[in-house]
Amino acid sequence: VDSDFARLIGLHENAAKLYHHVLMNTQVGEAALTYLHDRGLDDETIATFNIGFAPGDGLLKPLFEERKVDYQLLRSSGLFIESQDGQLRDRFTNRIMFTIRNASGKVIAFSGRILHKDPDSPKYLNSPETKIFHKSDTLFNFDLARKEIRKENAVVLFEGFMDVIAAYSAGVKNGIASMGTSLTTDQIGILQRVAETLYVSYDGDDAGQNATHRALSLIGEHSNMSLGVIQMPEGLDPDEYLRKYDAEHFRAVYEGAKETPVGFALRYLARGRNLNNQSEQLSYIEEVLKIVAGVPSPVEQDLYLNQLADRFQIDKASLKEQLSGLRQSKK
Ligand code: UTP
Ligand code: MN
Ligand code: MN
Ligand code: MN
Ligand code: MN
Repeated sequence: VDSDFARLIGLHENAAKLYHHVLMNTQVGEAALTYLHDRGLDDETIATFNIGFAPGDGLLKPLFEERKVDYQLLRSSGLFIESQDGQLRDRFTNRIMFTIRNASGKVIAFSGRILHKDPDSPKYLNSPETKIFHKSDTLFNFDLARKEIRKENAVVLFEGFMDVIAAYSAGVKNGIASMGTSLTTDQIGILQRVAETLYVSYDGDDAGQNATHRALSLIGEHSNMSLGVIQMPEGLDPDEYLRKYDAEHFRAVYEGAKETPVGFALRYLARGRNLNNQSEQLSYIEEVLKIVAGVPSPVEQDLYLNQLADRFQIDKASLKEQLSGLRQSKK
């Protein structure tokens, strides 16, 4: 079993080298390389992340067959799709290949991105679960980020690979992402062992905000990490923000735009509500006060009460009175 493990990693390391070579040095990879350059990735970043291209007619099958790699091993690698009659063909074709590495930096899986929008196929296609790849305990870029995470005692959780890569190239090197699926408790456990603080920096769109809300409660429930939210302005994702502005603006958001989870909740709960309407105002304030009641620090509570008092022109004393009622009823 152990040697299978090593051989599967060997196949992936090999495949990654080939994909990268095709991207960098061949005509077949030209369009993909241009695409990546247009998205702001330079060759150094492309090399650091070992990004590649899988050509349309399948690269791995003829090569591994020529090398007489065992059929069962190929079958179990996740790199191929098996047809009814047991024939294998490359799983990844015509896609930009992102390598997924384990904590030791070995390639254990791929995620392939289409070059052009296509309603019939997913934007990112990931390797299936295999002996060497378990989505639930894999974090994209953890191997490269770990040192920086330890140094800063903080980790930034992004939504997408491109966000991690963009942040890295802009000097924010403690970023990781979960594997397309939502965050898992295993991943939270891994992060808790290396950092005391975690910032959620998901996309600014609705999906990203919903995911932020879910992630914060899951992490809060399963760890003691101190939490923050970093959201890019204008509903952008971190990669889009960096491209629209520059690395300096990007880092400024990183330094300056850290929200507490409750601060985020205040914003999140306001979405889609007409807060000019008095009854909506009241229900919003009630909901928010319930959350504020759970904040242990009186100073932090005060911060939110001031914010509410300001925003809705309410006497802070009334807010406090209502809050203490909530706290009593909780006991
Ligand atoms: P996004 O749609 O936000 O993608 O999905 P992105 O990271 O901004 O990608 P670009 O900038 O368009 O290239 C966030 C993450 O969800 C997973 C991927 O991990 C992606 O990075 N995802 C998304 C999939 O696994 N499959 C998909 O079809 C789409
Ligand atoms: Mn596992
Ligand atoms: Mn998104
Ligand atoms: Mn995105
Ligand atoms: Mn994006």
